[in-house]
Amino acid sequence: MKNILIAGGTGLVGSKLVSILKEKGHTVSVLSRNPKGEGQFFWNSAEGKIDESRLKEIQVLINLSGAGIADKRWSTARKKELHQSRIGTNTFLFQKASEMPNLEQFITSSGINAYGFEDPEKCFVEDDSFGKDYISQLVKDWEESADLFQGTCKVTKIRTAVVLAKEGGALQKMLPPVKFGIGSALGTGDQTMCWIHADDLSRLFAHVIEFQLDGAYNALAGTCSNLEFTKNLAKVLQKPFWFPAVPAFMMRLLFGEMSIILLKGLKASNEKIKSTGFEFLFADVKAALKTVV
Ligand SMILES: NC(=O)c1ccc[n+]([C@@H]2O[C@H](COP(=O)([O-])OP(=O)(O)OC[C@H]3O[C@@H](n4cnc5c(N)ncnc54)[C@H](OP(=O)(O)O)[C@@H]3O)[C@@H](O)[C@H]2O)c1
Repeated sequence: MKNILIAGGTGLVGSKLVSILKEKGHTVSVLSRNPKGEGQFFWNSAEGKIDESRLKEIQVLINLSGAGIADKRWSTARKKELHQSRIGTNTFLFQKASEMPNLEQFITSSGINAYGFEDPEKCFVEDDSFGKDYISQLVKDWEESADLFQGTCKVTKIRTAVVLAKEGGALQKMLPPVKFGIGSALGTGDQTMCWIHADDLSRLFAHVIEFQLDGAYNALAGTCSNLEFTKNLAKVLQKPFWFPAVPAFMMRLLFGEMSIILLKGLKASNEKIKSTGFEFLFADVKAALKTVV
C-alpha cells in the first residue's frame, strides 16, 4: 500500500481516483488551490506556495492539474493558463522533489491529442512522434516537464482520451442538444474520437501504480467517428437523430483555433496498456454511454 499525493485531485478524474485508491487501501491526500475538508492541502504553483506537510512520506505523486482545454477560446491569456496549469505545476512539483525522499513514481496526466491530426487514418502508438499543432505541442511540453523527474523516480504519462463521466466533462456538454432531439454531428462527422469511461481511467491509474509501470500509455477504450458517437448518444437517450451537421465554418466562428479539437480527430492504439494485463470494463461505446447519461 502506498502513500499517494494527487495534485489537482479535486476534479472530474481526481475525485473518482481518490475513491478507488482509498478502496484499495492506499493513503491518499490531495493538493488543491482551494482545499476543502479532510485530506486536502493547499498549494498554488503560480504563487510558488505549497503545504509541505505531506511531502516527506509520499511514495507516489500524481499531477492531474489543468485548466480545461475546451472550456474557453484559446486567447493568448488562456494559452498561458493552459501552459502554467500543466507545465508550470509539473515544474513546480519537481522543484519540491528534494523534500520527497521516499518518492518512487511520478504520474502526469497527458493528452491523447499528442500525435496531431495530420494523418487521420494512422493508428498511433506511444513511440510515434508528437504533432505540430498547438495542442500536440502543449502535450509535448507537458510530458517533457514530467521528464524532469527522470533520475529521481519512475515517470508515467497517461495520454488520456475524452473521459465519459456522469459528473461532468465533454460528454455532459454534448448532452443538452441531443436530449432536446436536435443533436447533430460536427463538421463532416468523420473525425475520430478517442474515448474512455471514467471508471476505467481511475482503474488504469491504479494499475500503473500497482505494477509500477513507467513510460507513456495511451488511455483510451475505443474510437468512433463523431457522427457514430452522437448517433449512439441519441439511441441511448431514445431521441431522434435527424438534424443536419453543424458546418465547420460555424464551429470555427464560434470556437476559433479551439475548433481543431472538435473538427479533427485521430486514432490511437491501446495495445500497450492491454499488454500489461489491464482490461477495460467498458470497451463498447454504447454500453459505456448507458452508464453516464
Ligand atoms: N476530462 C477529460 O476528458 C480529459 C481528457 C484528456 C486529458 N485530461 C487531463 O486530465 C487531467 C484531469 O482531468 P479532469 O477532467 O479531472 O480536469 P478538471 O476537473 O477540469 O481539473 C482538474 C484540476 O485542475 C486544477 N486546475 C484547474 N484550473 C487550474 C489552473 N488554472 N491552475 C492550476 N490548477 C488548475 C483544479 O484543482 P483545484 O481547483 O482544486 O486547484 C481541478 O480540480 C487534466 O490535466 C486534463 O487536462 C482530461
